[in-house]
Amino acid sequence: MDTTGRGDIFDLTGKAAVVTGGGSGLGRVICEALARYGANVVCVGRSADKLQDTLASISGRGHRNLALTADVTEPGDIEAMVRKITDEFGRIDVFFANAGIREKSFVLIHEKAVEDWDEVMNADLRAVFLQMKAVFPVMMEKERGSFITTSSVGGMWPLAQDRWVYTQTAYAVAKAGLIMLTKAAARQYGPYGIRVNSICPGYHRTPLTPADEVDAVEETIARLLPLGRPGMPEDIEGLAVWLASDASSFVTGQILIEDGGYLA
Ligand SMILES: NC(=O)c1ccc[n+]([C@@H]2O[C@H](COP(=O)([O-])OP(=O)(O)OC[C@H]3O[C@@H](n4cnc5c(N)ncnc54)[C@H](O)[C@@H]3O)[C@@H](O)[C@H]2O)c1
Repeated sequence: MDTTGRGDIFDLTGKAAVVTGGGSGLGRVICEALARYGANVVCVGRSADKLQDTLASISGRGHRNLALTADVTEPGDIEAMVRKITDEFGRIDVFFANAGIREKSFVLIHEKAVEDWDEVMNADLRAVFLQMKAVFPVMMEKERGSFITTSSVGGMWPLAQDRWVYTQTAYAVAKAGLIMLTKAAARQYGPYGIRVNSICPGYHRTPLTPADEVDAVEETIARLLPLGRPGMPEDIEGLAVWLASDASSFVTGQILIEDGGYLA
């Protein structure tokens, strides 16, 4: 029996929770976890089919969920997305800026195409700035909110010896920038009741890593990690629910590493 009067601090019932990149990988399991804890989930991404799959996996829980197609590198798409969400729910309680891409070419800096650099910086850093610009004013109206970014251990530490990792320069720099953007936002929006934190995952088995690379990558991971196994998308659920909910009510500006011990 709850004798504190605080109820279930993980409960998300009635909250409007948005997850970008919700059609696959980590985003999909975050949508599923938030729905399981009672949130109305808005699943955002570029592929309508993938969003519908996520929606199907969280439907039937008695609350309202929504799938919205948007490219988060496009300011117009973000504005339209925020308008639709506020029309439907009148608020945004939780926003996971989770969508991201990795580098296509594993080459040294002097060999890298400028277009490849720009594409990653655009999707993994500039897009989150754009989402913050659109979402913070909505949260400020209610004087509360939890904004969560998905960075990477790649943004925290010079990367492992293997070429497929250490040549992801733009990815590492964008994710490092995202960590500082998260901290800056936490300072700026704390006075408005908004918490801003980042999850820093290590490797997880998702479509981010192409199927033909998975075996080699996971063999390396098993050698490097104290836990000796690759991360699975479900491993991120607990942290996601905790950051979204009142269970983390006094936590802001934090970079939470979830990596099987890679940086231990
Ligand atoms: N899987 C890992 O090993 C790992 C490790 C560290 C960090 N991350 C980060 O986690 C986040 C989720 O990645 P994932 O592993 O689930 O990969 P994923 O490829 O399965 O999911 C990323 C999703 O983001 C979407 N997306 C990309 N660019 C977009 C855009 N411009 N507009 C809208 N949607 C867009 C993709 O379509 C995809 O659905 C990313 O930010 C990634 O950098 C992943």
